Amino acid sequence: MNKSLISIADLKYNDLEKIFKQILLFKKNKASNRHKGKSVGLLFEKFSTRTRLSFEVAISRLGAYPIYINKSDTQLSRGESIKETAKMFSLYLDALVYRTSKQKHMEDFVNFSDIPVINALSDFEHPTQIISDIFSIKEMKPTENIKKIKILYIGDGNNIANSLCLIAGILDLNLIICCPKGYEPDSKILKSVKNKIKITHNPQLAIKNVDIVYTDIWTSMGMEGEEKRRLKDFKKFQVNSELIQGAKKDHIFLHCLPAHIGEEVSKEIIESKNSAVYLQAENKIYTAMAIIDHCLS
Ligand code: CP
Ligand code: NVA
Repeated sequence: MNKSLISIADLKYNDLEKIFKQILLFKKNKASNRHKGKSVGLLFEKFSTRTRLSFEVAISRLGAYPIYINKSDTQLSRGESIKETAKMFSLYLDALVYRTSKQKHMEDFVNFSDIPVINALSDFEHPTQIISDIFSIKEMKPTENIKKIKILYIGDGNNIANSLCLIAGILDLNLIICCPKGYEPDSKILKSVKNKIKITHNPQLAIKNVDIVYTDIWTSMGMEGEEKRRLKDFKKFQVNSELIQGAKKDHIFLHCLPAHIGEEVSKEIIESKNSAVYLQAENKIYTAMAIIDHCLS
């Protein structure tokens, strides 16, 4: 059985605690040669700036060799099966970092691979992003009990929201999801975390006294056909100077990026002193190192 990470649900409380410790160590020490001689593939079917770069840098800093694979350059794009491709990858690589439009493709890769597969974003989850973001919250609030920090996610119940709900279930986080009706996170995920997460549709009430305000784009990659409708449905869910008045004064604003400024967030909020979006982006490197290390160990 290889140690893949395609969902936050693949991890237990203790795994997460170990990964958070490891992220901190990698952040202090920057490099390690512990995976020298290994090769890690990065198969991307969708655009990426941060995840691709942070994983490539992370793999190099671990002494391993990153190999970027554009799907359209492979025989996958000419009809070779995932089964055959996964077998080939298992012969050449030690692990695969995979960004795909379908979680089902991710599961197929895992089923046919002998090497660990790491989800670098799918339509359903973005687990490495959320592990990194929780680390960032812990880093910015080192003396606070993470369970007591009030976290609001406002926007689409998408891949980011799904992974956030799952991690909230494992770490017992105080998470509120505020979204328009019909845009809730996956119902099976909500059920799996025993409906512990508060769901609301009223931004003004949801933001009252929260410590963390997290948002993401309203139209994720692959959903561009719904953009017009979504712009209308999400209009009241923008994080702007007026809405943010309800949050605690020392709140932290998070966004996984890329942002659509003027849609889910206004310019003054993303550029404000409360915004931690660059810290989030930086921590993706150390998180990628810790996750590669977890999966290869
Ligand atoms: N946050 C994130 O995953 O960004 P990229 O799409 O640029 O990788
Ligand atoms: N929800 C966004 C996240 C991008 C990092 C998307 O899937 O496009």
